[in-house]
Amino acid sequence: MHNAAFAALGLNWRYLAFEVDPKNLRAAIEGARAMGFAGLNLTVPHKLLAVDMVDALDESAKVWGAVNTIRFEGRTEKSDWLPLREFHQGAPVEIRAQGFNTDAEGLAAALREDLSIELSGKKVLLLGAGGAGRTAALKLASENVLELFLVNRTFSKTLDLQVEIKKNFPAVYVGLDYPKTEVDLVINATSLGLKSEDASPLDESRFSLKQTRAVYDMIYRPAATPLLAAAKAAGCKTANGLGMLLHQGAKAFEIWTGQTAPRDVMRRALEQNIYGH
Ligand code: ATR
Repeated sequence: MHNAAFAALGLNWRYLAFEVDPKNLRAAIEGARAMGFAGLNLTVPHKLLAVDMVDALDESAKVWGAVNTIRFEGRTEKSDWLPLREFHQGAPVEIRAQGFNTDAEGLAAALREDLSIELSGKKVLLLGAGGAGRTAALKLASENVLELFLVNRTFSKTLDLQVEIKKNFPAVYVGLDYPKTEVDLVINATSLGLKSEDASPLDESRFSLKQTRAVYDMIYRPAATPLLAAAKAAGCKTANGLGMLLHQGAKAFEIWTGQTAPRDVMRRALEQNIYGH
């Protein structure tokens, strides 16, 4: 999606994927800095590790406690930090790595665009309390959802999250079980559904899909997980994780380039590459 976006805007930039062992992450970031990279994206399991490996943290990375985007910035002679793209002639005095997190914004943008959901005042059941689940829960709370129900295989993680949300967003009710009443939205943030033999992340003996209006699955491959298929059959509005992938990427693109991301171009490139159409 990034290379398609660079081409669409006529930018002579390239986005490349590298597989990095976590033990080499610091060296990889240093190498990218030394080679004058504009920035980096990081994914599992690097997002938490990178927090301690950057020189500055944007508010987004501080709030979510994870870094998925790095921008390299140069110090000018006046001691300002500017993205490296701003240095047309003359090398910066020093280069630093600033960490950002675009995942939470990506989720909110996808819910808005794909499900027409504004989170404020809504009741949400969130499945999963790993890295993605934690960020989603905190984002939902920060957007003033009314009630948030957290369910996860490992109960202690939902308990920790409840404490964290209560501390930072005391107005949000946080339940640690399936809701008995209806909700506006169910989100799957577990990895269940990635493999065809996976069980459903939702225990339908405890919660019926008739109890929700919409279901969002962060998984985008396969395009329709069994959860989404069941939700559709139950009459729910559904969307998969492609929109979240798109919007977190588009936000990162804007952080690096300073230009508005061509989201339509990026979405088409994603669909072409992931689904082949
Ligand atoms: P990510 O960064 O993608 O969120 P993660 O932090 O490993 O990855 O989280 C994976 C999520 O899927 C967790 O909520 C995990 O539950 P646990 O916290 O109990 O590990 C959930 N998950 C993974 N495999 C699962 C399984 N077989 N049954 C139930 N939940 C599972």
